[in-house]
Amino acid sequence: MTGTPHPVHRPGRHRGQDPGGRVPAQDPAEPGAPPLGTTGPDPTGTPARGAHESPALAAYESPALAANESPALAAYEGPGRGPAQDTHAPRTPVVELRDVVKEYAGGVGALDAVDLTVGPGELVGIVGPSGSGKSTLLHIVGTLDRPTTGTVAVAGHDIAALTDRKLSALRARHIGFVFQAFNLAPGVAAVDNVAEGLLYSGLPRARRRALAADALARVGLADRTRHRPHELSGGQQQRVAIARALASDPVLLLADEPTGALDTASGEVVMELLHTLNQEGATIAVITHDTEIAQRLPRRVRIRDGRVVADSARGKVVV
Ligand SMILES: Nc1ncnc2c1ncn2[C@@H]1O[C@H](COP(=O)(O)OP(=O)(O)OP(=O)(O)O)[C@@H](O)[C@H]1O
Ligand SMILES: [Mg+2]
Repeated sequence: MTGTPHPVHRPGRHRGQDPGGRVPAQDPAEPGAPPLGTTGPDPTGTPARGAHESPALAAYESPALAANESPALAAYEGPGRGPAQDTHAPRTPVVELRDVVKEYAGGVGALDAVDLTVGPGELVGIVGPSGSGKSTLLHIVGTLDRPTTGTVAVAGHDIAALTDRKLSALRARHIGFVFQAFNLAPGVAAVDNVAEGLLYSGLPRARRRALAADALARVGLADRTRHRPHELSGGQQQRVAIARALASDPVLLLADEPTGALDTASGEVVMELLHTLNQEGATIAVITHDTEIAQRLPRRVRIRDGRVVADSARGKVVV
């Protein structure tokens, strides 16, 4: 089946479901996870192969972080994230940005006083002209970069309170990334490309591959697990990339122009898939230049010159 993806049984959070499968916390003196923005699998580039297993998770499972772990995180531990959450429980935002400013070296101001809250189960489009700060915003939301000033909380964690190592662990565990360039490892079967996304989960290889196969089924590619990227269409490759982002069952899926390299029909399938995943409970933020795609999203946030100038959720429109 290579057509429209269909929902399949969705496993719950791996930590709750398979507590025995995770590598226990290791020596706290173990070398830290890669520095900010470089944790594996590198969400922005070709996944590192043969990387040392699980430093990020070891950091995450350490008592120090466990002690810091906010009750908010517990709210995300079950399959009940997103719309399925207990409606009587306080709905901690998945993302909360307050007064975020980002200036790059050389004085380029990319974001200016951005406030943005994304709740569980939302599907948010981020739109705006080239150079307006969309990718910068996504990088900050995804904790790939820190703001110059302002606060960022993901799943209730104030990222300023986390070391780069803990932040890498949080990112590996809670955030999935999809980019315009699919960033699949060439010559590697789809199932192994997806299993790469779980390299830092601490799960044994067989379990990672089983979860990868589940994730491929979720994106409608159950019959393409052994195909290598060059044996897949562009749209299928992007669906593999989405499966990789989903495999760790993240609380937040971030996509930067996921249809940008695809023809219209393949782009439609990818967007349908994101809608389906959202209906199943995934919280998703997607950057798009395509106004037709944007119009179909339940919420749109418009960025211009680094500022949020419109947010359909708030009825906010600033010209
Ligand atoms: N690493 C960087 N160093 C310096 N300036 C940067 C860096 N990354 C982005 N910028 C600048 O920040 C501004 C916002 O860039 P950003 O990539 O967020 O825009 P964008 O809205 O994603 O654009 P596009 O639609 O073309 O992808 C631009 O002026 C860009 O030149
Ligand atoms: Mg961009």
